Amino acid sequence: MAKTEAVRYVCSMCGHSSPKWLGRCPSCGEWNSFTEEKTAPASRGGKNVSSSSQSLSSIPVENEFRFSSGISELDRVLGGGIVHGSSVLVGGEPGIGKSTLMLQVCHLCSARGLVLYVSGEESASQVRQRAERLGLDLERINILCETHLEAICHVIRTEKPQLVVIDSLQTIMSEEFSSVPGSVPQMRGSCLEINTVAKQNGCSVFFIGHVTKEGTIAGPKIIEHMVDTVLYFEESELDNRLIRASKNRFGAADEIGIFEMGQNGLTPIKDPSSFFISKRENNELSPGTAYATISEGSRTFVVEIQALVTDAKSSYTRVFSEKIDSQRIMRTAAILERHAGLRLSDRDIYINVAGGIRVNEVSVELAVAAAIYSAFTGKSLDGDAVWMGELSLSGEVRPVSYGERRLKAADDMGFKKAYLASSMAVALGDKTKINLFGCKKISDVLRQQGTRGAKITYEF
Ligand SMILES: Nc1ncnc2c1ncn2[C@@H]1O[C@H](COP(=O)(O)OP(=O)(O)OP(=O)(O)O)[C@@H](O)[C@H]1O
Ligand SMILES: [Mg+2]
Repeated sequence: MAKTEAVRYVCSMCGHSSPKWLGRCPSCGEWNSFTEEKTAPASRGGKNVSSSSQSLSSIPVENEFRFSSGISELDRVLGGGIVHGSSVLVGGEPGIGKSTLMLQVCHLCSARGLVLYVSGEESASQVRQRAERLGLDLERINILCETHLEAICHVIRTEKPQLVVIDSLQTIMSEEFSSVPGSVPQMRGSCLEINTVAKQNGCSVFFIGHVTKEGTIAGPKIIEHMVDTVLYFEESELDNRLIRASKNRFGAADEIGIFEMGQNGLTPIKDPSSFFISKRENNELSPGTAYATISEGSRTFVVEIQALVTDAKSSYTRVFSEKIDSQRIMRTAAILERHAGLRLSDRDIYINVAGGIRVNEVSVELAVAAAIYSAFTGKSLDGDAVWMGELSLSGEVRPVSYGERRLKAADDMGFKKAYLASSMAVALGDKTKINLFGCKKISDVLRQQGTRGAKITYEF
């Protein structure tokens, strides 16, 4: 008897499936996201399937687990280089530089063996033009302009490249999955098949993925589960790009890579501190500026927090902060109002991080409080001081992690003072050249600011 195809409906956002069409996905809440998917009935076979397990100790050890992508910042985010046979999903806004970076990686890895750039979006001559502009060796990069899954897998099997870039996953399709390119079944099937073929042939794969308007990689979340590493490309300022790992099976997921986009493609920035803080003339700061230390993976650097406090434009006060969570700013403002006597409840607060890097750490709260205080009072803060501390709702300055690393980063940048929790000042006093000012309460430390030259006494 002929097998009949079953039909199910799959959410194109999260992959949730349902036997009937639904207007709204019960899993992710998206409207009109269900598309029809035909599935072959499950095989009733399996009697002849045989398999056996083996001891881990009998698995041969690979001599070389990783190889360098040739780009130090990318290697750092990947956990030390590209793992042989691994799959990496790279997502980012249109035009951010995904294809550019991957083409550069192809060039830099090509000395090791064949590299293959599969383009489903651009023609071979467009890719060639970009490679020429970037000054890459055209001889050493193979291009395949193809969107058919079977054809791509065939080339991987026969030509056995050591690295493949799929630009992009959303363009790959197979007649086997009866839906349009970019749909859930196509993406899931293509990712699984290419992954399997690549792993069998010891080939590492980079999938470029589009992002949705919410900033997540388009397609079901299951795609992120299928790959070993997920990287997100972000724009911090006009020419700066950040890469973050949101998942990494072979390394930490909190590393960031920092690049500058220019005529010659993406260039790694090795010294982020000098990049994220503007030049200080004689340590004179404008009111509203404070320096914070941030720790991202193995990197610690100094960033400049800027605050502006104005009369509220309406009966509702607002906080405008894109790079630091607004809730954190509101909480810090409430603490300042309650424990440092600043009347902020009729003010609008604007917060920015110079260089445009997003900061998620609690350690930035003391610097934010200092910047708001400075903006509110019009008094400049010490230009040679960094601020590190979490604020409790009772106005206490709490210690933060990686104190020694933070002080070293500040010292390297020529900072002379650090305001931090008393317990940190006691613990780290003899480990740094920096003059530490330990504070217990936010009110203690702010009272002393803006009175340069005055004798400052702090509780330890
Ligand atoms: N001649 C040039 N000089 C400097 N930068 C350029 C030049 N041409 C393009 N760029 C930069 O490269 C970016 C395009 O990069 P790329 O095509 O790699 O992005 P993408 O993330 O792959 O985009 P998409 O998702 O649309 O494929 C442009 O936004 C621009 O900033
Ligand atoms: Mg592209």
